[in-house]
Amino acid sequence: MDHGGNREIHTEAVVISIERDWSTDSLMKVMEARMKSRPVLLNPDSVSVAEGGLVYSGRKIEPELVIVRRLKPSHLQSGLTSSVLRGLEEGCKVINRFQAIATAANKGESSVILAKRGIPVPRFLVTRDFEEAWRFVREEGKVVQKPLYGFQGVGLRIITSEDKDKLIDQIGSSDPIYLQSYIEKSGWDGRILVAGKKPVAAMKRITGNDWRTNLARGGRAKPWKPSQKTINIAVQAVDALGLDYGAVDLVGDLKLVMEINGTPGWRGLQSVAEVNVAERLTEIFLGEG
Ligand SMILES: Nc1ncnc2c1ncn2[C@@H]1O[C@H](COP(=O)(O)OP(=O)(O)O)[C@@H](O)[C@H]1O
Ligand SMILES: [Mg+2]
Repeated sequence: MDHGGNREIHTEAVVISIERDWSTDSLMKVMEARMKSRPVLLNPDSVSVAEGGLVYSGRKIEPELVIVRRLKPSHLQSGLTSSVLRGLEEGCKVINRFQAIATAANKGESSVILAKRGIPVPRFLVTRDFEEAWRFVREEGKVVQKPLYGFQGVGLRIITSEDKDKLIDQIGSSDPIYLQSYIEKSGWDGRILVAGKKPVAAMKRITGNDWRTNLARGGRAKPWKPSQKTINIAVQAVDALGLDYGAVDLVGDLKLVMEINGTPGWRGLQSVAEVNVAERLTEIFLGEG
């Protein structure tokens, strides 16, 4: 029976994540130790939204801080997730904001914003037009085709000026095509985690048996001390997408910005970092950093 007095869950902070994975767990533990009330972990599929805001198990929650830790790609197009998160943004600090996460996840949208802001990115093209795509491939010689919303290196394909038929097949499908100039690298890419306009940790991702350095593709984490110039680029890139924090992937000797993750985990980074990443992030999220 509902006595009416119990209709609200009192908490300062909510963490939204599809699971209590390693990074989420380390963040929750630090937040529990640092905050007056216990943070609440919520799955984006198990929450509802009403005129008063977030509802969970028939109870209203009005946190002061929301950390969006991990979503599924489908949540970016989910009207429920956008309603919940946009609703929370009215009157509470949400890190990162839904729109910024969605912009970062879209490789076309993020690339064009970064390029327009003067941030060095590999040349790219998003198109449905075969002639345009073929011109780009011939100009560049070697390009990488990627899903517009991809992750962990899944679905990436190298296309060269020998591969006209491959390109015709790809253009025939219903999605627009994202092409990016292939950047030669000497065995590794860089990643910098930025929060509150500051670098938190950085690593090299060394290639395994694959040209992709994703840890999911056998890449290995090694410590890295990026130059101040590269750090500045990473900080500007995160800011340009409207993110409070994000992981910036940099490719090639020139350290061009390849992509930015608006909901990054940090297990690989923590394995080589000098700082406790969850502690640094919590300090920054609580405005103490
Ligand atoms: N333009 C490129 N030149 C060279 N290597 C690339 C390029 N684009 C991607 N890669 C390699 O493939 C990996 C995955 O690419 P990325 O764009 O980050 O997609 P995902 O979102 O799937 O991680 C990168 O970490 C990098 O090692
Ligand atoms: Mg990547």
